Amino acid sequence: MEKVLFVGGRRGLGAQVFKLWQTRFPKHSLAISSRRAMASASLMSIKSDLSQQDDREKLLQFVREYKPTRVFYFAGGGPYGAFADKEWKDHLWALQVSLLAPMELVHHCMKLPEVKQMVVVGSAVAESKADPNAASYCASKHGLLGLISTLNRETTTKDIRLFSPGYMATEMLPASARADKKVSDPQFVAIDFVNWVLDKEASWHRLYPPD
Ligand SMILES: NC(=O)c1ccc[n+]([C@@H]2O[C@H](COP(=O)([O-])OP(=O)(O)OC[C@H]3O[C@@H](n4cnc5c(N)ncnc54)[C@H](OP(=O)(O)O)[C@@H]3O)[C@@H](O)[C@H]2O)c1
Repeated sequence: MEKVLFVGGRRGLGAQVFKLWQTRFPKHSLAISSRRAMASASLMSIKSDLSQQDDREKLLQFVREYKPTRVFYFAGGGPYGAFADKEWKDHLWALQVSLLAPMELVHHCMKLPEVKQMVVVGSAVAESKADPNAASYCASKHGLLGLISTLNRETTTKDIRLFSPGYMATEMLPASARADKKVSDPQFVAIDFVNWVLDKEASWHRLYPPD
């Protein structure tokens, strides 16, 4: 029986992938992790703020008990502005939510036999080149690329992947920042994500839009 955990599945790209998965696989057991409580009889949910140590522990505990077969990590973000103008705590928040929490979750899941696939969301823009005014976010996404590429050289026993979208029309990208960019509808990005994770022969790294 497939059990899928969506970390950050309440809104944005995570919510689009969640909805699509629910439609395509109504018999799968699905769980969402979010900072907000999500009350629903048909849904497992865990309230977890990934910038907080206790909540990260709670999520790991949930994973041990729920025993998902797939784990998708969508959460991410960071302060926008010149590096030195932002407080250190804001950079720490970005690193914690966008790099360290997914890294810890992957580390944890690699030891759990039930988890067959882990997919983390990176960024086509921020993971491979400079992203002015988003230094800690950019450092986190570069870190994810380093992590997932390395794990794919170290191990073949788990399916560990990185999905790297370009700009998307979600709350993360305010309307005022979309004007000069090619921005994708997250509904279409979600279709690509789902088709790719289901393709057993696909590469561990997917850029959207594809090259
Ligand atoms: N939008 C873009 O242009 C773009 C481009 C490239 C990559 N990405 C990446 O795509 C992923 C999804 O982003 P999105 O565009 O869908 O943005 P979004 O709509 O702003 O969603 C952000 C997600 O992160 C979660 N999150 C934020 N802070 C959290 C915290 N402290 N603890 C737990 N969860 C937290 C939110 O969950 P709750 O609010 O429910 O807690 C939400 O699910 C991110 O990794 C982002 O870096 C986005």
